[in-house]
Amino acid sequence: MRDYREFLSEILVDEATLQRRIAELGAEISRDYAGVENLLLICILRGGVVFLVDLMRHITVPHMVDFMAISSYGVGARETTGHVRLTLDLQTDIHDKHVLLVEDIIDSGYTLSYVLDFLSTRKPKSLKVCVLLDKAERREVPIPIHYRGFTIPNKFVFGYGLDLDEYYRNLPFVAVVDLEKYTPSS
Ligand code: PRP
Repeated sequence: MRDYREFLSEILVDEATLQRRIAELGAEISRDYAGVENLLLICILRGGVVFLVDLMRHITVPHMVDFMAISSYGVGARETTGHVRLTLDLQTDIHDKHVLLVEDIIDSGYTLSYVLDFLSTRKPKSLKVCVLLDKAERREVPIPIHYRGFTIPNKFVFGYGLDLDEYYRNLPFVAVVDLEKYTPSS
């Protein structure tokens, strides 16, 4: 795999800025859920994991974590199409839990719309959304966002959990791809 610097256009959110904001979000969540029993953070694989593990270390309220995976299919692998299905279910019964969904990015909103509908049918005690990156101008379905890291422009981003053909999720910052220099593998 190529070095990301070969197709890096710009660093959109640098490591220090990310970490500062994540600490703020963790503090806000800790205040809001203070004294709450049965807090469960749910991460949607795979992009959300990097954000989850940093965020949870700033949440002082005792909590559990669980994971689910969904897959979107249809035209074009790069964009969610609205056709979403569950590929990995939770291990946790959520009906007696306060659920906080943790996601790396919201684009069209189709993924979270599906996940929120799906989780609502299981009647959790509460259900809120925490998203690191909000590509607000791309939204096609409205999503309630309770905790938002950054609103970002409609640019092709990678790093900090977000992949380019499954690579580069490990980068500690959010970067923009120079699409003239990056050739997708498929
Ligand atoms: C990304 C992201 C969200 C979804 C947002 O996942 O993690 O789940 O896209 O897009 P939407 O708002 O248009 O539905 P992706 O499908 O890239 O999978 P990944 O998390 O495994 O990288």
